Amino acid sequence: MANWTPQSWRDHNGIQMPTYRDVAALNATEEKLGSYPPLVFAGEARSLKADLADVAEGKAFLLQGGDCAESFAEFHPNNIRDTFRVILQMAVVLTYASKQPTVKLGRMAGQFAKPRSSDVENIDGVELPSYRGDIINDIAFEKKAREPDPERMVKAYSQAAATLNLLRAFSQGGYANLKQVHGWTLEFMGRSPWAKKFSDMADKIGEALEFMEACGINPDTVPQLKATQFYTSHEALLLPYEQALTRQDSITGKWYDTSAHFLWIGDRTRFDGSAHVEFLRGIDNPIGMKCGPSLEPDALLPMLDTLNPNREAGRMTLITRYGHDKIESGLPKLVRAVMREGHPVTWSCDPMHGNVIKSDSGYKTRPFERILAEVRGFFAVHRAEGSIAGGIHCEMTGQNVTECTGGAVAVTDESLADRYHTHCDPRLNAAQSIELAFLLAEMLNREISERNSLAA
Ligand code: TRP
Ligand code: MN
Repeated sequence: MANWTPQSWRDHNGIQMPTYRDVAALNATEEKLGSYPPLVFAGEARSLKADLADVAEGKAFLLQGGDCAESFAEFHPNNIRDTFRVILQMAVVLTYASKQPTVKLGRMAGQFAKPRSSDVENIDGVELPSYRGDIINDIAFEKKAREPDPERMVKAYSQAAATLNLLRAFSQGGYANLKQVHGWTLEFMGRSPWAKKFSDMADKIGEALEFMEACGINPDTVPQLKATQFYTSHEALLLPYEQALTRQDSITGKWYDTSAHFLWIGDRTRFDGSAHVEFLRGIDNPIGMKCGPSLEPDALLPMLDTLNPNREAGRMTLITRYGHDKIESGLPKLVRAVMREGHPVTWSCDPMHGNVIKSDSGYKTRPFERILAEVRGFFAVHRAEGSIAGGIHCEMTGQNVTECTGGAVAVTDESLADRYHTHCDPRLNAAQSIELAFLLAEMLNREISERNSLAA
């Protein structure tokens, strides 16, 4: 990688990052984090890359999900467990319907930093720095709370380490055993018609497992039945933190950002000359880039040359976020340009960020129907263009929150106030997430049969 070092981003245009007043404290923190153990191992990042290469070829589906922003206040084992179990439920629905593997990628264990539309927030004539996520400052609207504090990076690292440790335990230690499939259903799901559908599916999986057990195939003889591979990801926004966790792999000599398996660049930081692009181009992890309506093919193609010069399969995931009414007019030109150039990319749909509205009651929300409409549009575009609709990126939680409107157990505008807990964007609750998984599974299934019949 020519002219790249873990700190070469510092000579580029770095936006959406705080200015720390105490430079000595910042340096000390960076040094401390630089001596801490990596959170993930390079070999794991390489296996995710291989899995994403399969997704790009239509041999697997990518499910990426978690909080918009993790917070220090909501750090609790039950929250981690509940989000993890909903992701497992979604994954099993997708895998069962499509008969293909689902790549499970949490937006977890490091998703702390947030880009903001303004550097300052104004309330009743008082102006303070904007909240940028718990890794940077505090959400409380007070002068001291909003001051960026480097020590928060250390706290975020510890929380990420503990979260990842629990996720590894859940995925490898028995919780993810397919024999447990009924046990993943959350108590409060009872009212959702999709809970019944899930339970029926779980019965069928149970029967299939019993049949296989009689044939000598069980979780002891075939460990894949009792464990799953769960990867982590977050937006690589706070570069001092990411740099401190970037290490050279002793096996290959390549650089990996060991803060997560997968890192992405946001829609606001993916411009020519950006410090974030500079940083990500040099790490060997699989990476993502958010693509919104303002991205033209002329800007995308050079970016792909920069970020994936060797055109390595699985390296690049393009996460499109247009909005339900813009995807069908906006996305085709990107898909055509990428296909014409022959760049290998994995296409994933973020149906969340282009569909934010302000409700009549004043809450920032996302109507479930619009989320669904964007996913439909995503499949329609890729079908028309002959490309692969590879995955989905959603903001969701295992908690019974009321942040997005709609769904089978409808969250109404009036009920948004009941349990609106997010630190940032509105998330799908557990019931809405399962519903989305079933509807998505239907689309995916149709897609796969169509592809197979074309190939036959
Ligand atoms: N190991 C397989 C996989 O991860 C099967 C599996 C085990 C699984 N537990 C799971 C699939 C939980 C989905 C959810 O795909
Ligand atoms: Mn968000």
